[in-house]
Amino acid sequence: MMVCEYKPGLEGIPAAESSISFVDGQKGILEYRGIRIEELASKSTFLETAYLLIWNELPTKEQIAEFEEEIRMHRRIKYRIRDMMKSFPESGHPMDALQASAAALGLFYSRRDLHNPIYIRDAVVRLLATIPTMVAAFQLMRKGNDPVRPHDELDYSGNFLYMLNEKMPDPLAARIFDVCLILHAEHTMNASTFSARVTASTLTDPYAVVASAVGTLGGPLHGGANEEVIQMLEEIGSVENVRPYIEDCIQRKAKIMGFGHRVYKVKDPRATILQDLAQQLFAKFGHDKYFDIAQEMERVVEEKLAHKGIYPNVDFYSGLVYRKMGIPTDLFTPIFAIARVAGWLAHWKEQLEENRIFRPTQVYNGRHAVSYTPIEQR
Ligand SMILES: CC(C)(COP(=O)(O)OP(=O)(O)OC[C@H]1O[C@@H](n2cnc3c(N)ncnc32)[C@H](O)[C@@H]1OP(=O)(O)O)[C@@H](O)C(=O)NCCC(=O)NCCS
Repeated sequence: MMVCEYKPGLEGIPAAESSISFVDGQKGILEYRGIRIEELASKSTFLETAYLLIWNELPTKEQIAEFEEEIRMHRRIKYRIRDMMKSFPESGHPMDALQASAAALGLFYSRRDLHNPIYIRDAVVRLLATIPTMVAAFQLMRKGNDPVRPHDELDYSGNFLYMLNEKMPDPLAARIFDVCLILHAEHTMNASTFSARVTASTLTDPYAVVASAVGTLGGPLHGGANEEVIQMLEEIGSVENVRPYIEDCIQRKAKIMGFGHRVYKVKDPRATILQDLAQQLFAKFGHDKYFDIAQEMERVVEEKLAHKGIYPNVDFYSGLVYRKMGIPTDLFTPIFAIARVAGWLAHWKEQLEENRIFRPTQVYNGRHAVSYTPIEQR
């Protein structure tokens, strides 16, 4: 057997062959199934993009109409799930609530006919349809309110904002939110996607696959950076404080949140799209100082750190957009999960097509031939 060098975090080691998405970090290119992210953000919808990711082709008019209708029909959550969520502590993190609820879905739909395309479609529809409802339901219930029933006249993103805010969404805000979901739907072999594929490889059910990926996304090194961007902008507090703040970070070798990326060495194409969306949102609903602080940060960081390939990443502007929509900061990562479930499901399906259970090896660095010490001698 070939012996490979151990790489912490498996950095640079391919974990799968995949045709779902592609990143060129030097040129700032992101493609889903070969289509550039800019094109999808300007022309597609989240559900159409999810369909493309999962079934590897853009749907026809009839196919997307049928898919949207199926999703619409399955948006409600079972009263047992709702009652289970009611018993969660209000102080619990919404990501933990989401992970538990996604796993609980498996109790209701546990049939594992993984080679049957009808089962696959059914699971895709149920997960895409109910995850936003679960996120919104937990948000309302932790405030002591009853969850709002999904609105049949509203599309995917409009309905989520309606269930969250208990009022009809502004159309521009709903479209911008939908584009945010497109931008977060998939991003090659990241930690949560890897987790989804490992879980999928055991041939467990797709609810367990998504629950495992949600658990992985919840960590601050993965999904949580946009929350930290907001805390940082609040801490900076004014445009005048930007330059001294950045100079201090550089001097202390501290990371500036929302900047830099392991793969992109130019500006993350999703950040460029989000910046434009943020501009539209702030133009309609009023400028606030945080947007001005963010713009100034981008200017100063570019001036000081562009030579190291440090530019804004997707998290820099997404937090600002969600904040402007009135979304609480601890829902940013659950919203990331709403989007990324499309990518996870695409990887689940792809993993099943050529499945081999993940069973890597390890480099043992422990002791050998140690004798057992009786407890009274320890
Ligand atoms: C995302 C991230 C982990 C990528 O890190 P990486 O690829 O391992 O890059 P490195 O940590 O090796 O950094 C390379 C150089 O750029 C600097 N750098 C990287 N990100 C930086 C940032 N956000 N602010 C300031 N300097 C940064 C490093 O200090 C290092 O400088 P050096 O060569 O003088 O030591 C890192 O950029 C980061 O922590 N960013 C902030 C958190 C964030 O926004 N995360 C969301 C990512 S989508």
